[in-house]
Amino acid sequence: MSDLIHSLYAIHDAFQKEISGIASSTDAETVRVKYLGKKGELTGVLRMMGSLTPEERPIIGQHANDIRAKMEAELETCLRKLQADEQRKQLISQTIDVTLPASPVAMGSRHPLYKAIDEICEVFLGLGYSIAEGPEVEYDLYNFEKLRLPPGHPARDTQDTFYITDNILLRTQTSPVQVRVMEKQKPPIKIVCPGKVYRSDALDSTHSPIFHQFEGLVVDKGVTMGDLVGSLQLFARKLFGENTKIRLRPHHFPFTEPSCEVDLTCWSCKGKGCRVCKGEGYVEVLGAGMVHPEVLSGCGIDPEVYSGFAFGIGVERTAMGRFGIDDIRNLYENDVRFLKQFK
Ligand code: DAH
Repeated sequence: MSDLIHSLYAIHDAFQKEISGIASSTDAETVRVKYLGKKGELTGVLRMMGSLTPEERPIIGQHANDIRAKMEAELETCLRKLQADEQRKQLISQTIDVTLPASPVAMGSRHPLYKAIDEICEVFLGLGYSIAEGPEVEYDLYNFEKLRLPPGHPARDTQDTFYITDNILLRTQTSPVQVRVMEKQKPPIKIVCPGKVYRSDALDSTHSPIFHQFEGLVVDKGVTMGDLVGSLQLFARKLFGENTKIRLRPHHFPFTEPSCEVDLTCWSCKGKGCRVCKGEGYVEVLGAGMVHPEVLSGCGIDPEVYSGFAFGIGVERTAMGRFGIDDIRNLYENDVRFLKQFK
């Protein structure tokens, strides 16, 4: 019996030595299995109790239980310490420095054409206009006929476009929106309409088969050319500076009478004459005029009672002047090196 007691204490000693040297909670589990598991050393000793007398058995049993309880408690303490250490190490290794700057997010920028549209919109919204919209795929009827450009009209030649069918096409101008608005809405009317237009033109430094216009329409009692000039002067000054002047040149548009083309003081030379304005001191930016009485009556508005003015601003021209862009193709190539200059 004293041999057995001796081995129990020897196991305990060996166990203590071993746990004092372990480095991780997984090692602790290995030690537990080795000493306290079903096939462990302590269990092995207890199995030998069969050879003891009935008087000896409870004494050894008592020793064995004490030692097991001690070993379990010691292992538990050791395990807790190891787990605390491991958690501390993990916290240190996974610390996030919240003061570090975040990695940069690539931000896009507004396209210069749409920046120009926004700026023009701001001027006219400030004057009480609202924004209207119309389809890019348009009827011949709205794009041409109701604007007094019947089939065979010579002005159609300069606005050749892409036809979907004989009478459906990609609009060549934003002017059809005037008709659509006047058919639905009765005066007073005060709208602007920015949008894409299409013409079968070849691409070069100043032309593109897709470009943008900014249409304006005002119809009310007593609207005059003076009102048109005042609105356009404000547009010119707000976009290109207080010293910008506008110049009206007589022109012909079938849907306005009288009609004019409107030039702005050259943004490049401020009027002295340069390559951009071809020595003129002015650059052509828009077409305008008083809405033709037949266009008004065609939309059910009595020209004896109402009058109106309309204008169509070239958005590309405006953007190029506003941001110093010298080739229209830059606006469509989506070269990030170009675009990111407009942040
Ligand atoms: N739509 C014309 C064009 O593309 C521009 C224009 C001229 C618009 C006179 C107008 C206007 O509203 O009154 O050439």
